[in-house]
Amino acid sequence: MSGPPSVSVNGALLPLDGVRVHTSLLDLIRSHGLTGAKEGCAEGECGACSVLVLRPDGERSQWLALNSCLVPAAAFDGQEVMTAEGLGSPDRLHPVQREMAERGGSQCGYCTPGFVCSMAAEYYRADGGTFDLHAVSGNLCRCTGYRPIRDAALALGAPEHGDPLAARTSALAPGPSTTRVAADDGLFVRPATLDEALSLLAADPDAVAVAGSTDWGVEVNLHGRRARSVVAVDRLAELRVAEVADDAITVGAALTLTEVEAVLAGRLPLLDEVWPQFASRLIRNGATVGGNLGTASPIGDLAPALLALEASLVLVSSRGEREVPLSEYFTGYRRTVLEGDELIRTVRVPVPPSPLVAFHKVAKRRIDDISSVAVAFAVDLVDGIVRKARIGLGGVAATPLRALATEAALEGEPWTPRTVAHAADVLAAEGTPIDDVRASAAYRQAMLRNALVRFGVERGGLDPGVRAS
Ligand code: FES
Ligand code: FES
Repeated sequence: MSGPPSVSVNGALLPLDGVRVHTSLLDLIRSHGLTGAKEGCAEGECGACSVLVLRPDGERSQWLALNSCLVPAAAFDGQEVMTAEGLGSPDRLHPVQREMAERGGSQCGYCTPGFVCSMAAEYYRADGGTFDLHAVSGNLCRCTGYRPIRDAALALGAPEHGDPLAARTSALAPGPSTTRVAADDGLFVRPATLDEALSLLAADPDAVAVAGSTDWGVEVNLHGRRARSVVAVDRLAELRVAEVADDAITVGAALTLTEVEAVLAGRLPLLDEVWPQFASRLIRNGATVGGNLGTASPIGDLAPALLALEASLVLVSSRGEREVPLSEYFTGYRRTVLEGDELIRTVRVPVPPSPLVAFHKVAKRRIDDISSVAVAFAVDLVDGIVRKARIGLGGVAATPLRALATEAALEGEPWTPRTVAHAADVLAAEGTPIDDVRASAAYRQAMLRNALVRFGVERGGLDPGVRAS
């Protein structure tokens, strides 16, 4: 640790000493008068709180946009953060701010600083190439309408020579600091090594291990959850490995979803269908693979796909390591085999994956919404016979689960409309769906049935006349 903990925001150091463990980065920056970033929802769904953080990118660095409402301020010790105020000023607008102003991209302005930060991250990433509009999929605007915002985004060119934020990316971003911030509500620790993290968890099994904080932040903000001790594990090098071998792909639990998408580079086509539907880019920049599985949400989008891919998890504690198939990991609603002193170290997916895949997410909105039902298919056909079928489900039980009866109804059978129609009926009876605010049990069952029929037609080459009975 070097010097008292602090975070650089727009080039000025803000002290973190004594900052409460449950103070978000958003609250910290606003308490220093930087009130451009707003709290809209406090749960990662509106992007009004979006800020930029500099992260390493090989020998260079990149500006990533994050939801500052979700992350503990102390987690940014030693980091460089930029807000809308740092990008430009009224008499010296940043190119993104100028396009937004000139093209009518802002009316009440509540959402605008967040939009500007998300757009600026993509502006520097694209560097004059195609602007990916998914970069603003986590930003909501309630009064302007999205067309002028889209116009502003698509009008952006490449950063000019001498642009200070572009220039900053050619040098390394600060690495993670070893941090210890004690405050009246508890202790925030960022250990230097995995061993140190495991010792902390062994000494205090009630300590909360936090990575991207996209779930923990919601718990803190909306449900009043508090922890006497928070241990940050998202920057531990041991949890950030990635290996592509002939028989398996291994990804570290602390890699973010954005990073995993880049590491896989299309090697697991099923996951390529998941990424665009998995929350927003803002969330995927922070959320980790291990965090998504660690929270054990029955509606987490990654678990159904990883179940279909027959993934296993390596769990680690100061007592050693063990490997658990993902299909044996979930034990009940938000419960798993993970002990209080254990962390998920890596996720291992055997390769090659089955070639016929699809991920169907049923939600009220296509982008940035919670699944009512999620179904992942991975099927292997040999000479028209189903050699292997793996189906992962979310949203239809207290845990994500494999559709074992449906898999059995398919395997060894000819891939025909009749087989699929029968299996679709079996699939509709899997799990124990309930009525809740997102969908009724009957609707969920209907969606399960339809998912397999649609998979058979769209991916399996079956006659569109195939119907579940
Ligand atoms: Fe809505 Fe942070 S306040 S995403
Ligand atoms: Fe008012 Fe977007 S300009 S919410």
